[in-house]
Amino acid sequence: MDMRSPKHQKARKDDEKQILVVGISGSMRDSSYTRMAVMIALRGAQQVGARTQLIDLRDYHLAFFDGREDESSYPEDVFRLRKGVKAAQGLILATPEYHGSLSGVLKNALDLMGFDEIEGKMIGLVGVAGGRMGAANALNSLRTIGRTLHAWVIPEQVSIPEVRKVFDESGNLKDPELEKRVKEVGRQVARFAYLHTSEKAAEFLRLWEDTPVNPGG
Ligand SMILES: Cc1cc2nc3c(=O)[nH]c(=O)nc-3n(C[C@H](O)[C@H](O)[C@H](O)COP(=O)(O)O)c2cc1C
Repeated sequence: MDMRSPKHQKARKDDEKQILVVGISGSMRDSSYTRMAVMIALRGAQQVGARTQLIDLRDYHLAFFDGREDESSYPEDVFRLRKGVKAAQGLILATPEYHGSLSGVLKNALDLMGFDEIEGKMIGLVGVAGGRMGAANALNSLRTIGRTLHAWVIPEQVSIPEVRKVFDESGNLKDPELEKRVKEVGRQVARFAYLHTSEKAAEFLRLWEDTPVNPGG
């Protein structure tokens, strides 16, 4: 029996429902714009009540994925990464555009994970690019990766072209409209992750999946 006050119990219940959104920054560079962008998206998630955590791949000493039989020989940080991602209901994947795709360090981090960590999660995408064409190719690749891992990649995404010009010295975006769009990625990830994990939504999905004949099929 729970002996705590009803107020305390309710607070605990609300806390249990609180969504965790984890942002992964896919650049190893000091003063990375990707990291600045993902921090803004995470602030958007916080605004709608989510807890957030940054996984900065610079702080993780990972190995290249090599398909080894005995995974216990991977560095401890591989398991720290997997655990951190697995705990989240929502993810923000942020990458620089590198040679028309996502960064190798982010791809390797994703290769070290799989369905176990990513399936069923809500994912938002943010990309930055040095050039005028933006990060659309990196974002498309990440969208395909998310689909392949059976995640829910939200339609809203942000590509920031000519990224050297857009941040101020504190890491904020100079253009409030752009700031709003980046935050919106985080907000939507948190909101849809909440809906996706709510009991009512789960009940709807159960009924839908148990329907003997798909009327639209
Ligand atoms: C290896 C490499 C490849 C790059 N390829 C592209 C590219 O294809 N298109 C582009 O617009 N910028 C490209 N850039 C520029 C980066 O997108 C830009 O420097 C970005 O700021 C890097 O992100 P960061 O600040 O988070 O490190 C490339 C940079 C590097 C180092």
